[in-house]
Amino acid sequence: MTVHELQQEIIRLKKEKDICILAHSYQTREITEIADLTGDSFQLSVQAQKARQSTVIMCGVRFMAETVKLLSPEKKVLLANPTAGCPMAEQMDKDMITAVKQKYPDYTVVAYINTTTELKTVCDVCVTSSSAVKIVKALPNKNILFIPDCNLGGYVGKQVPEKNIKLLQGGCPIHARITEREALNAKAAHPNALLLVHPECTEGVVKHADFVGSTSAIMKFAEQSDAEEFIIGTEIAIGQHLSYTCPDKRFYSLSKELICPNMKATSLSDVYHAVCGDGGEVIELDAEVAAKARVCIDRMIELG
Ligand code: 13P
Ligand code: SF4
Repeated sequence: MTVHELQQEIIRLKKEKDICILAHSYQTREITEIADLTGDSFQLSVQAQKARQSTVIMCGVRFMAETVKLLSPEKKVLLANPTAGCPMAEQMDKDMITAVKQKYPDYTVVAYINTTTELKTVCDVCVTSSSAVKIVKALPNKNILFIPDCNLGGYVGKQVPEKNIKLLQGGCPIHARITEREALNAKAAHPNALLLVHPECTEGVVKHADFVGSTSAIMKFAEQSDAEEFIIGTEIAIGQHLSYTCPDKRFYSLSKELICPNMKATSLSDVYHAVCGDGGEVIELDAEVAAKARVCIDRMIELG
């Protein structure tokens, strides 16, 4: 089967079997083309709740599929490729954060959505990269413990100086390895280009950016901007999608290293097998754990 034939077969089967396919914007174009919705972590969480289909297939990483299951426990939720995890989500666990909370009992614990379901049970509210500033601003407590991404947390701290934000050492290994020198070199190589970066990048990179935002916010900014050239400081897929939607503009990746192997683990063939019913992993969550974890996801949607 050609890629096009496989896509047509997936589209036919998903209609027949009442399946909704969600794809994070870091997925390849052949997957986003057959998805019912493509977006950033926040958009996927909100849309998953609204999906009318009885089955949802997540093309992304594990915490995203778990978030869908938390919000729609009555739905069958599959992770298209069971090996796709987010290394940042595994950096901190429930016991570690419970111990930190004992040291800082008067802090509100804000968890980036890139965390495990179990860890979310001891957190107060979740945020995504697109909602973090708004939510932290809206919280009544001045003292915030922000986990696990110290780069995103540091960025939020700069936007919300009235809060006292405590950070721990965690973050995205893909974004965090981009250096300030690379940002300066890219700007020198493309002096007319705007630098658009994800807040998971280090402060040294973010300070040279013309725009900082989530994956979807970066795409929207580039699509609406009058500028013609952009350096994209997030996973390589974003520049590739933008090259299709804005054929008259030019997009350069900030670094060739900006490839997330976990986000790239899902293939069109994985999606086909998940739709057929002989692939993917059905997400099962303990009911008590899920009920506790859901509280901070609901709060995120309410405040975001
Ligand atoms: P977004 O919130 O922008 O979708 O980012 C998710 C992610 O994993 C970025 O690396
Ligand atoms: Fe996790 Fe980073 Fe990959 Fe996003 S890019 S899924 S934060 S490892």
